[in-house]
Amino acid sequence: MPQGAPRPVLVVDLGAQYAQLIARRVRECRVYSEIIAHDLTAAEVAAKHPAGIILSGGPASAYEPDGPQVDPGLLSLGIPVLGICYGHQLMALALGGEVMATGRREYGGTDMVLEAAGGLLLQDFPGEDTVWMSHGDAVTRVPDGFRIIARTGQIPVAAMEDPERGMFGVQFHPEVSHTPHGMDAMKRFLYDACDLLPNWTPANIIEDSVTRVREQVGSDGALCALSGGVDSSVAALLVHRAIGRQLTCVFVDHGLNREGEPEQVEETFGRYFHIPLVHVKAADRFLAKLAGVTDPERKRKVIGEEFIRVFEEVAREHAGARFLVQGTLYPDVIESGSKTAANIKSHHNVGGLPEDIDLELVEPLRDLFKDEVRQVGVELGLPEEIVRRQPFPGPGLAVRIIGEANTENLRVVRSADQVVREEIRRAGLERETWQAFAVLLAEVRSVGVMGDGRTYQHPVILRVVTSEDAMTADWARLPHEVLDRISSRIVREVPSVNRVVYDITSKPPGTIEWE
Ligand code: XMP
Repeated sequence: MPQGAPRPVLVVDLGAQYAQLIARRVRECRVYSEIIAHDLTAAEVAAKHPAGIILSGGPASAYEPDGPQVDPGLLSLGIPVLGICYGHQLMALALGGEVMATGRREYGGTDMVLEAAGGLLLQDFPGEDTVWMSHGDAVTRVPDGFRIIARTGQIPVAAMEDPERGMFGVQFHPEVSHTPHGMDAMKRFLYDACDLLPNWTPANIIEDSVTRVREQVGSDGALCALSGGVDSSVAALLVHRAIGRQLTCVFVDHGLNREGEPEQVEETFGRYFHIPLVHVKAADRFLAKLAGVTDPERKRKVIGEEFIRVFEEVAREHAGARFLVQGTLYPDVIESGSKTAANIKSHHNVGGLPEDIDLELVEPLRDLFKDEVRQVGVELGLPEEIVRRQPFPGPGLAVRIIGEANTENLRVVRSADQVVREEIRRAGLERETWQAFAVLLAEVRSVGVMGDGRTYQHPVILRVVTSEDAMTADWARLPHEVLDRISSRIVREVPSVNRVVYDITSKPPGTIEWE
């Protein structure tokens, strides 16, 4: 455990999508949590000095041998354990209880009745309450020493506990919002059973992180590639707080940014935070390489390669730097399956590091979820505009032009994008939507009429989506007035565009971007 890090609550991933959600809920209770693989031995788990352990749900059946198992030794480490759904059943079996396929599936909102006044865990629940269930098997007999603290019409053990041993199990999902009092159970486990305090706050996160970065970097130099987005900005600020002027930020301006962004980076980092900033104005270089390129993957490759070339030149000029700061987030670390391998999705690595560059990584955000990065950003004084910025692809506006990314097309898509952003902000929809942008169909023309004349110009696609994580997305049901304002402003204000079309495709089968 790095010095300065809090004792974690470990969420054992038993194969469902719930582990991440559970870890986030724990952190919403202001307690630090980490996700671990289920095949760690009890000794490996103990070495992480956890303050509590949560066994997640999972799709398998607890009494079948091929389902994911945990080392039963986890239950005798003297560390409080909360089992959820499948984890609850594993706990019951491991401690001598009984799990059976009752033939009574429960799925969705289910009425639950407390027993023993809800015991320690469910004491804040009303006598009867709705909880979210998703199971076919159920615990039919609790292990010795446990008492039943809730049941439903279908199953006798909706929740059980043995507070003396620090063991708790719930068949329902306390982590989902469809269980209205779920967070109360979580808090009782964390604050009462694990004896934790709600002190995982942005201020403490910053303090821990600063200590760790100082330990890692010592008196050496570090470089950070800024993109203008929230992750690289927060990473840079954190590292700057730790090592001050030993950090140099590099902003490679490839000419594919949105209106006002290069100026904003310069203003924020150079003039406001006084961080040494190298602003490489390389638009001409990138545009020369992009001439005639229309294939989406080819565009990405060209931009990625040129980015690396520019960055290497800067790195050579700062030969003293030993470290490279990256804004890797916790979900990337979990996806890579290992805490040792930094993993950047292949098409997301523009703005990332040259692969063979001889710099050691500093990743101050690798324990954080996106919403936590934003909170840390606020605490560090980052302007709201950057903290709340919607995701923007590394290859920038180049992949929002269907056709060649040349000066003229960039000018058109940039102006349309500016209108979209302004109107979405004015309607107060920036936070409710995941991304809102314009795509230019540079190779398509359609007929229109303006004034007395016929026009033959390009369409712009308006793409506005809602999403949790960009893996899936839905098109935003924007109010008609907002659509109307965006459409009339674009056609009026953006030359060479005579038509605006709204994209009503979800992801899947569509993607968020058009390229
Ligand atoms: P898609 O279009 O695949 O996008 O549904 C999912 C998310 O990823 C972003 N995106 C990119 N980000 N480099 C990036 O850094 C890229 O090449 C890239 N392509 C897509 C997209 O904006 C969305 O948030």
